[in-house]
Amino acid sequence: MNLLVIGGGGREHALCWKLRQSAKVGRLWCAPGNAGIAAVAECVTLGDGHAAVVDFARAHDVGLVVVGPEAPLVGGLVDALRSAGIRAFGPTAAAARLEGSKGFTKALCARANIPTAAFARFGSGAAARAYVAAHPLPVVVKADGLAAGKGVVIAHTAAEASAALDELPGPVVIEAFLTGPEASLFVLCDGTDILPLGSAQDYKRVGDGDTGPNTGGMGAVSPAPALTPDLERRALAEIVAPTVAALAAMGTPFTGVLFAGLMLTPTGPQLIEYNVRFGDPEAQALMVRLDSDLLDLLLATCDGTLADARPVWRAGASVAVVMAANGYPAAPVIGSVIAGVEAAEANGATVFHAGTARVPDGALIAIGGRVLAVTATAATVGEARAAAYAAVGKIDWPGGFCRRDIGGS
Ligand code: AMP
Ligand code: GLY
Repeated sequence: MNLLVIGGGGREHALCWKLRQSAKVGRLWCAPGNAGIAAVAECVTLGDGHAAVVDFARAHDVGLVVVGPEAPLVGGLVDALRSAGIRAFGPTAAAARLEGSKGFTKALCARANIPTAAFARFGSGAAARAYVAAHPLPVVVKADGLAAGKGVVIAHTAAEASAALDELPGPVVIEAFLTGPEASLFVLCDGTDILPLGSAQDYKRVGDGDTGPNTGGMGAVSPAPALTPDLERRALAEIVAPTVAALAAMGTPFTGVLFAGLMLTPTGPQLIEYNVRFGDPEAQALMVRLDSDLLDLLLATCDGTLADARPVWRAGASVAVVMAANGYPAAPVIGSVIAGVEAAEANGATVFHAGTARVPDGALIAIGGRVLAVTATAATVGEARAAAYAAVGKIDWPGGFCRRDIGGS
């Protein structure tokens, strides 16, 4: 079967890398891809709009389109592909509202009695300020739409809340502040059945010890150390299953991968947010642990046969360390030369690329904020961390940096 993967980050590199291992995959394209993806897939540039993807898939006999990032999902790419009779992995625009609109998700949680932080949604700053004045601090102020990880402010004072309200465009959601370790839980859904795919812990702040601004994610460890089997069962039963049932009952069933961002509070798991796609760098940490054929799982999700799927996972743990360009997240410096990737991979680590390109003389350069995810598996988190950082040590890139505490210290 010919496949097309949409996206060009580390997540899409991990998906393409895993799909390339399947004997059932024929030609594999990635749009737009990146310099690392080019080693396992044919990178193509498609025009803007859903029609360009539909046309390419038709012209190249593509049997499955895998949509990596949230924006095209929220924008209805899967709807366009399905209307054209092309199989697509990912939710429809209606189901993708779980990520695209926090207000939608909060309302669904309220109806289905799903544990999540108390909240209110506001179209105007004045009403939001009145709400903050009447509720205990800290409060969490979030943009209602897609914000690429930047739309969340934890305000410890009314002045901080007010400043956040001035800065965030459009409608906002204000939430109660939850405490506890965080975990990301990934679940395939075919509309009715769900199949847990495992978990990861993301490191969202740019600096060691969870300091500095939020980022898209500076590293991941899988499975999430804090998510015990009992907490995972509770999260599936109390959060994920009722969400999937509610969407099916609304006539907008969820198909694809549902990524539940959880806070493991003293009273049990609570939903922080949903994403409707794999995480980045969580996908990198998950894919290196998957022994089964990823194509089989994606097809079972699209074709409604997840109840029969039995994926096999490698025992142990994985650690993905993100290397970012100096200046990330505020102002990453573009164009620095990266060497040593082959040496980093020589002992079994896998280096997934995000913002990379090759210049005409063959050198690899950084062209984005998050640039590499150096990923390793081992019997324990400690060994996986040691292997990942040993590989990081082989990378010769003065223009980049990473956190030193991914997977513990
Ligand atoms: P989000 O974009 O909604 O995932 O939020 C980004 C990060 O903000 C989360 O990973 C949490 O660390 C933090 N956060 C979001 N909502 C809350 C909350 N209600 N209480 C405490 N921390 C939160
Ligand atoms: N690493 C968090 C995300 O992909 O949303």
